[in-house]
Amino acid sequence: MYHKELTDFPKDFLWGSASAAYQVEGAYQQDGKGKSVWDDFVKLPGKTFKGSNGEVAVDHYHRYKEDVALMAEQGLKTYRFSIAWSRILPEGRGEINQKGLDFYSNLIDELLRYGIEPMVTIYHWDLPQNLQDLYGGWESREIIKDFTDYAKILFDNFSDRMKYWVSINEQNVFIMHGYMLASHPPAVNDPKRMYAANHIVNLANASVTKLFKEGNYQGMIGPSFAYAPAYALDCLPENVIATENVNDSFAYFWMDIYRYGRYPKVAFRALEKAGIAPIIEEGDMALLAHSTPDFMGVNYYQSMTVAANPLDGVSMSGEANYSGEKGKTKEQGMPGMYKMVANPHLETTNWDWTIDPTGLRVCLRRISSRYDLPIIITENGLGDFDTLEENNEVHDENRIAYLNNHCLAVQEAISDGVEVLGYCTWSFTDLLSWLNGYQKRYGFVYIDRNEVEEKELTRYKKASFYWYQNVINSNGQTL
Ligand code: BG6
Repeated sequence: MYHKELTDFPKDFLWGSASAAYQVEGAYQQDGKGKSVWDDFVKLPGKTFKGSNGEVAVDHYHRYKEDVALMAEQGLKTYRFSIAWSRILPEGRGEINQKGLDFYSNLIDELLRYGIEPMVTIYHWDLPQNLQDLYGGWESREIIKDFTDYAKILFDNFSDRMKYWVSINEQNVFIMHGYMLASHPPAVNDPKRMYAANHIVNLANASVTKLFKEGNYQGMIGPSFAYAPAYALDCLPENVIATENVNDSFAYFWMDIYRYGRYPKVAFRALEKAGIAPIIEEGDMALLAHSTPDFMGVNYYQSMTVAANPLDGVSMSGEANYSGEKGKTKEQGMPGMYKMVANPHLETTNWDWTIDPTGLRVCLRRISSRYDLPIIITENGLGDFDTLEENNEVHDENRIAYLNNHCLAVQEAISDGVEVLGYCTWSFTDLLSWLNGYQKRYGFVYIDRNEVEEKELTRYKKASFYWYQNVINSNGQTL
């Protein structure tokens, strides 16, 4: 559909930006914080780009006031950040660390002082190490109670001051990397364990959502799902079936659970046939069915293109481009089911991610049609090499083009009739990319550090900072 005129963004549209605790805070052992599973994982040889870690990150823990002042200068309406579970509960359960609570309480107050709406992610991958040691983390049902108790502490302490909660960030990503590709902690490569752990994450997510709703806390709660909508390479029917396989097992497998509390039949049947389906206990499906989120959060970076894959075809090697040398990504897939192929119509980033603004419109449309929920885009952005030039300027024109086109795609989706509440870029400042170090930058604010040297961590506003400032000030009229 082509629109003659686009509908305006709603007056109260949440123009935002996002981050995650491990990627920005640093201070990894300060003020009583316990260890998370990432603290040791990053020390394993070869796991991260040049052995980079978040021990100092961009020192947001100490510089949050400076960062929030920059957000206010830019005009952000919302800032999405995550809370480190092990700052609040160093052991993951039991005694509360008051200094951890104070840090986030102060951050929330600082945001509110400037009229910026805090949006809190309860879990963005940094599981307390103690829970991993004690019972295997997400592989034990014990975590459902611990996660719910942790979330209750946050709701009880902060929900009178804020409205938007993201329960879990990209469950599909940390589960697949953690239990199938072995590229995130706990570095397991076992699909059966992956689906078992994933089912437990579903239950924990449902339990927290239910608590929030039954506890009559103000505001809204929803998950952030990493959605890369799948296109068929062409109209060859076998390629279309392969694409159905991908949509079922990469997208609906999670979002159907969030919204309806059920697994898509075809995907579940495939797991049963392979002997890797999760064990469903009495009461599980009832809990899942009674914990509908208030919105669907979506993290969108790229679409994927799919073709049929013969029984002796390519498999999931887990190899990926973490260095920024374009063209390093190899074809991967599931023999007999699907394979991901290059899209001949789209450009890619230096890390081989397709650049596809229309894919964002597709994903907003699909979510709206299938789930009938309001949507918050909780992440969208371009990872790129940025250079600090003369006069400390950064001319990130590629990022401006990427974001501008994606914002226009959001406006098109709104014009189509999709209810979009907000849009958060990834990220506000540059930050640590889990596996790609500090050279893959996403921020509006350049941070002067690299994998080897922390330097002074000075903040410099990039060209995109001013571009977004204008977009926000005009409520999207300058796009
Ligand atoms: C999302 C995560 O997967 O994408 C973020 O929620 C992450 O934490 C972002 O940083 C970008 O990914 P990457 O691998 O380029 O850092």
